[in-house]
Amino acid sequence: MSGYEAREAAWTKLEAHAADLAKTPLKALFEADAERTARFTKSAAGVTVDLSRQRLTGDTLKLFLDLAREADVSAKLAAMGKGEIVNPTEGRAALHVALRGSGSAVDARASVDRTRGEVKVFAHEIATGKRQGAGGPFKSIVHIGIGGSDLGPRFLYDALKRFRRPGMTMRFAANVDGAEIADALEGLDPATTLVVVVSKTFTTQETMANADAARAWLIAAIGEAKAKDHVVAVSAAPDRAKAWGAGAVFPFWDWVGGRYSLWSAVGLSCEIGLVDDAFQQLLDGAAAMDAHVFETPLPDNLAFRAACVQSLNRLYGMKTYALIPYGRRLQLLPAFLQQLEMESNGKGVDAEGRTLKRSSAAVTWGDAGTNAQHSFFQLLHQGRDVTPVEFLLIERGSEGPASHRNMLLANVLAQAQALYEGKTEAAAKQELLDKGETPKRAAELAPHRAFTGDRPSTMIGLDALTPKTLGALLAFYEHRTVLQAWLAGVNPFDQWGVELGKQMAAGLLPALQGDEVKNVDPATKAWVEKLR
Ligand code: F6P
Repeated sequence: MSGYEAREAAWTKLEAHAADLAKTPLKALFEADAERTARFTKSAAGVTVDLSRQRLTGDTLKLFLDLAREADVSAKLAAMGKGEIVNPTEGRAALHVALRGSGSAVDARASVDRTRGEVKVFAHEIATGKRQGAGGPFKSIVHIGIGGSDLGPRFLYDALKRFRRPGMTMRFAANVDGAEIADALEGLDPATTLVVVVSKTFTTQETMANADAARAWLIAAIGEAKAKDHVVAVSAAPDRAKAWGAGAVFPFWDWVGGRYSLWSAVGLSCEIGLVDDAFQQLLDGAAAMDAHVFETPLPDNLAFRAACVQSLNRLYGMKTYALIPYGRRLQLLPAFLQQLEMESNGKGVDAEGRTLKRSSAAVTWGDAGTNAQHSFFQLLHQGRDVTPVEFLLIERGSEGPASHRNMLLANVLAQAQALYEGKTEAAAKQELLDKGETPKRAAELAPHRAFTGDRPSTMIGLDALTPKTLGALLAFYEHRTVLQAWLAGVNPFDQWGVELGKQMAAGLLPALQGDEVKNVDPATKAWVEKLR
């Protein structure tokens, strides 16, 4: 049997197992195993993952271990840590772990350490006023980038509000809709603003348009010569960045994909915008999770177990999952994870180019609880399609009025419980009768007030909301994503699927500016004609 056939055979066994297990209610799994919660809850680096309310058993994990063996998962993990080529379509290593000091890729070490040192010095000089702008010490940063060059820093800065550097404002611009850069620059003083342009390629249309606008805004106020000191780039194309007008350029290596790049100089603006050491703490937290993932055998490995559950739910036909962080500070996490998971694993062919027989990624979506409860939770509780939910809570610490903490926690626990328990029609009817409804009305209303329950969820606890635990959490998600990809046989490090639309947008721009509309479908032609 070839490696591919062995992998497929392992999947076939899992499919049969899932078809069987689908008939077992979650409650029956708990009844059969008094230790279930403990058995399916593991912690590492300040992150606790409770999978007990997912429809899996010890046998499920064993079958996934068989699959992992056939898919060479442990060998691939080791190869990634060593800096070997694990991105075959681009012939590259994937060394995001090296950026936080993990793995053993010696070749990358020197340039990573050098850049880390340079970023720290630069950030320190900006923060202390040693490096000044035309109007004195810098007071604001405008971070320009999109996708992986935006979502990580944006999430981090939002989540770590309590760790922001006093006196420093940070804004973000990603969208090519001019409203975004206009909002980002509004009210700032160009003479005290540092523009950080992050683009691996330094060709991304949105980023270049926003960077040009920001640079023009600087030049109009302080002149071209001084503007240079106000613009810094992070790019794998330093010559292009310098030719464009960046005063300093920090490297962004080929071997790190945008969505895995927060740990690199891509985090420069956060290094400046957050208090001293916060960024280093983030890296340390990620390294602690790396140590767990690299050193823990797969059966007890947090990221592997979570990757199995994500893969299993797709076998149950669940095409999406909802990520619901409680609460406000983790609001941007779903957006970050959408890129990480869907850009990495939303593939149609395996790493060798064979058409996949089953889906390799679920749609990630979600919003912060409790707001989400008052928006789309109706469907999660009573819709015909079952959507697994991943809840995230912060165990210690809170902000604002102290009384809010327990309300927030009661809500997250209740939602998971409600999905699991449900409410029978008989119980709903009895409640209505108890409230004084007539038997006829109670019978009419009960179906509307019943919940099937038996709906799976994961509960993730973060020890506290700190740079360190966030680093561990994001590293956990990176590893879970990559391990899922390898189980499915896909390459998580390329993203060819984003290219076609980019090519077509480049082709349509001249048409929108008045050129003849050529080689487009009738609907596109009609829209171009309406819009120009
Ligand atoms: O369009 C997708 C993408 O290539 C992402 O993978 C990347 O994070 C983003 O665009 C930005 O790319 P760049 O850093 O080259 O501007």
